[in-house]
Amino acid sequence: MKTTIIRAYEIEQEDIKKKIKHSFSKDELVVFPTETVYGIGANALSSKAVKSIFKAKGRPSDNPLIVHVNDQLDVYKYTKNISNYAKPLMEAFWPGPLTLIFENNGMISKDVTGGLSTIAIRIPSHPIARKVIEMSGFPICAPSANISGRPSATSFDHVYEDFFGKVSILIDGGNTNIGIESTVLDLTTNQPTILRPGKITKKMIEDVLAIEIIDHSEILTEDAPKAPGMKYKHYAPKGAVTLVDGSKEHVVDYINRQIQIHHDKKVAILCPNEYYDLLEAKTIIKLGSIESPETIGENLFSSLRLMDKLDIDLIYIPVVSSEGLGQAIMNRLLKAANYHMIKV
Ligand code: TXA
Ligand code: MG
Repeated sequence: MKTTIIRAYEIEQEDIKKKIKHSFSKDELVVFPTETVYGIGANALSSKAVKSIFKAKGRPSDNPLIVHVNDQLDVYKYTKNISNYAKPLMEAFWPGPLTLIFENNGMISKDVTGGLSTIAIRIPSHPIARKVIEMSGFPICAPSANISGRPSATSFDHVYEDFFGKVSILIDGGNTNIGIESTVLDLTTNQPTILRPGKITKKMIEDVLAIEIIDHSEILTEDAPKAPGMKYKHYAPKGAVTLVDGSKEHVVDYINRQIQIHHDKKVAILCPNEYYDLLEAKTIIKLGSIESPETIGENLFSSLRLMDKLDIDLIYIPVVSSEGLGQAIMNRLLKAANYHMIKV
């Protein structure tokens, strides 16, 4: 398939706007940046378009997609029995990295929702994402723009690598700013429930609602996963990832010992800046300062992708705080490591 690449500065040009609108109306796929990660979008009202997203990503069809809209009124258009908690959350966090789960009123097909009776909706804040949704004239379903199982895409290089030749349009918006996917919050349960942690933390939501909410994001049951996406293998590089938890001294000792033991393998360390000088591997990638989880979040997926580029066999990652945004970082790291964590 012919893929057109559109640069950020071209987005306001009339012929480009027309091209984007035309692609959506022909059920084609458009990859665009959001403030969290890149999304691969299609018209959520077209079954054919939705199916081609699953195909392009290699995504299991029971893993539902998030519908991206520009206007809170769309929530009233596509959902029913809306929780009283919805309005204050939309006012506080939209546009932004929070996805809310509602009861689907049936206007959006079950192809989008993986057969569930609920539907995920968010208004993104990235100016290009906003413009793309507006130009399309449709609600846009968009999962993260990565081949299923790979780390989400946070730069144009990543989406080029995964989707050039497979979609109609790739929009280059540079690096995404948050780097971790949106928080997913279920509003169809008695108490609002976090299904996936993100930049909008439990505490931020509780501060707005003035009630305690439930956090299910760490619970993984094969039988009844509430966010279907959570049961699948995620983010894992080809090399084996080990998370190392403990005091800085013990972690450094442990990793340096592993580097010696596995001298015949290609070993890499992804670490907070504060560990860099103490470790002895050939390949050490700084993720950012412990003081700045935002920076670690921004760099996480690109560093995981780099591991495959460098053909690394073994990857060690010191564990840092799981407070605030750290919880979302830890959630993604655990998946990348297939839950392999060592305490030292
Ligand atoms: O930041 C983001 O959310 C990005 C950007 C592109 O917006 N999108 C994204 O989509 O991360 P995706 O498809 O990679 O992840 C959506 C997650 C999955 O874990 C999915 O199972 C869950 O949301 N989800 C979607 N609809 C749901 C529903 N009705 N009930 C429960 N979980 C749902
Ligand atoms: Mg994803």
